[in-house]
Amino acid sequence: MCGIIGYVGKKNAVPILIDGLKKLEYRGYDSSGIAIYNDNSLSIHKSKGKLKNLENKIEGKTLYSNLGIGHTRWATHGEPADVNSHAHTSTRETIAEIHNGIIENYLELKSFLQKNSQCVFKSETDTEIIAHLIDYFYEGNLFDAVYNATQKMEGAYSIGVICKDEPNKLIGVRKDSPLIIGIGENENFIASDIPAILKYTKDVLLIENNQFAEITKDNVKVFDNDKNEIKSKFFKVTWDEECAEKEGFDHFTLKEIFEQPKAVHRTLHHNIKNNEIHFENINITKDELKSFNKIYILGCGTAYNAGLIGKYALKKFAGINAMCEIASEFRYNDPIIDENTLVICISQSGETLDTLQSLRLAKEKRAKILSIVNIVGSSITRESDYIFYTLGGPEIGVASTKIFTCQLMGLYLLSLHFGNLLRRISDDEIKFYINELISIPDKIQKLLDDSEKIKQIASEQFQNESIFYMGRNVDMEIAYESSLKLKEISYINSFAIGAGELKHGTIALVKDETFVISFATQEFLFDKMISNIKEIKARGAYVLTIVKDECKDISDLCDKVLKIPYTLDIFTPILSIIPMQLLAYHISVMRGNDVDKPRNLAKSVTVE
Ligand code: G6P
Repeated sequence: MCGIIGYVGKKNAVPILIDGLKKLEYRGYDSSGIAIYNDNSLSIHKSKGKLKNLENKIEGKTLYSNLGIGHTRWATHGEPADVNSHAHTSTRETIAEIHNGIIENYLELKSFLQKNSQCVFKSETDTEIIAHLIDYFYEGNLFDAVYNATQKMEGAYSIGVICKDEPNKLIGVRKDSPLIIGIGENENFIASDIPAILKYTKDVLLIENNQFAEITKDNVKVFDNDKNEIKSKFFKVTWDEECAEKEGFDHFTLKEIFEQPKAVHRTLHHNIKNNEIHFENINITKDELKSFNKIYILGCGTAYNAGLIGKYALKKFAGINAMCEIASEFRYNDPIIDENTLVICISQSGETLDTLQSLRLAKEKRAKILSIVNIVGSSITRESDYIFYTLGGPEIGVASTKIFTCQLMGLYLLSLHFGNLLRRISDDEIKFYINELISIPDKIQKLLDDSEKIKQIASEQFQNESIFYMGRNVDMEIAYESSLKLKEISYINSFAIGAGELKHGTIALVKDETFVISFATQEFLFDKMISNIKEIKARGAYVLTIVKDECKDISDLCDKVLKIPYTLDIFTPILSIIPMQLLAYHISVMRGNDVDKPRNLAKSVTVE
C-alpha cells in the first residue's frame, strides 16, 4: 500500500522517480504523483489512475531537477482523485511531502492549523495536514520543522519531505510504515522497498521506527526521536535488479510460480548441513521450548493459510498443539498470553499492520516472538526474538505464490527442529524427513513441467462463475489457499470446505456441472474422500481430484484426476498448491484480468 521514493543527487530526479514508482506498483495504488524542486519553486504533478496517466501528463514538459519525491497512493481518506494524490504542499508552497500510513489525529491537527495559521486545505486526505504542519513549524531549518511536526502527529507514517528553501535536502521519517535509505555515489534515495532503488544501488541503510534521516547527495544522517545522531544498520542487497524484473515471463506471478523450485531449495539448504537443521537466528533451547505452554501462529491471507498447515506439522513432529489465528481477529479476542507463550508470526512483507500489532500486543504481555518473514529488516523482524527468513527473493505479484511454499518449508523445518529438541523424533528420523524435503524442489519442477495440462483445464473452466474446493486435514487447508488464490486473481466466486462438513449445508449448492476441486492426497483419509466425491458426483458436480502419483485409480469416479509426485502426507501441500496456483493464474489471464495487480488488493497491507 502506498509507495514512496525520494531522490537527491546529480542526475535528473524525474525519470528516477517515475522508474522507482513503477517498481513499487506491486504494492497496489490508485493514483500517483511527484514533487520536484525546479527553478526556485516546487513543481507538483499528479494524476488519478495508473502511472501511465502521470507519465502522459508530464510528457513533453521539460522537467529537470536534482531533488524530488514520488508516490503511489492507495486511497484511505478521500477518493482516488488528482487532488487527493500525493505530493501535498503547504499553502505557501514551500514544503512538499509524501506519506504512507494514516495520521489518526488529523482532524484535531486540522482544527489546530485552521485556528493558528493561514493555511487552506485543498484535499480530503489526512496526509495534507503534514505539509501544513511542517510549514507551520518552519523557521529556516527543514529538519527541525519536520521533527516538531511529527511530535504532534499520531498514527503510522513514513514520509518524505522537500523544501523550496533548502533544495539540496531530503528528509525521511519512519514510524510504523516501511522506509529504507539507498546509498549511492553522489546520490541518495529513500524508498518504501528495495526494488525501487536497485537499479542505482545495492547499499541500503535500515532505519528504525521513530527515526529521522537528513539526506543530501553526499551525506546521510540518522537521528532518533530525541534528536541524537545514531548509526544505522547497513545492509547489502544480495539479489540484483533482474530478480525484480519479469525476465521473459508475461507476468511476475507466473515468473514467481516458476521460481519455486529454486526459492524452496534456497530456503531449505540455507538451514541444513549434513542433513541436520541449523538455524541462524533461532537459538531456542530445549528448556525454553518446554517452558512454552501456549503457541500461537498468526498471519493474514496466504501467510495465515501457511500457518494452518504449520499447525499440523508442529503436532505431528513435535507433539505441540498450536493455535493458528487470523492476526486481525487475534488482537481483539482477548488472547491469553504470558511469558510462557510463543507467538509465531508469518508474513511475506514483515509489514502487515494486523500481524505487527498482534506481535506488539503479545510482546507487551511478555511472550516470545518467532517470525517467519521474507523481507530482511522489515518491522516484524526488528521486533522479534527469533527470525526465520524465507529466501524466496522479491515477490512482486500481489498474490503470494513462491513465498507461500517457502513459508511451508520454514514451518516444516521448524517443526522438525522442535520435535528433535523435545526428543520426539530421533536424529535418524530427522535425517529421513530432511531427505524427503530435499526431494521437494525437483518434484515441484516436475509439476511445473506439466503446466500445459493445467492451462487446458483453465481453458475449459475460465468462464465458470463459481468453483468449490474441498479436502480433509492438510488437504482442507490447501483447499483454502487454492480458493484464495483463485478469488484474488480471477475474481471468481469461490470457497473451500472440509469435505466432511459438506453435507451440513454446502452440498445444497451443488448442482449439474458445479466445478469442484477435491484433494485426496492423505492416505489415511483416502476412502473418506472417495465417499465425499461420490456424494457430490451423485448431485451432478464436475469433479477434478488431486491425488498422489501411486494412489488407486479413481479415473472412473472423477471427471479429471491430477497427480502430484509421491511424498509423505504432511508434505503434500507444498506440491498440491502448485497446479492450483497455475490454474488461478491461467484463468485470470483468460478472463483478461490484471494478474499481477488485481483490483482492490495491495501487496503489503499497512492499514487495519
Ligand atoms: C495482502 C496480500 C496477500 C498476503 C497478505 C499478508 O492481503 O495481498 O497476498 O497474503 O496481505 O501479507 P504478508 O506480507 O503479511 O504475508
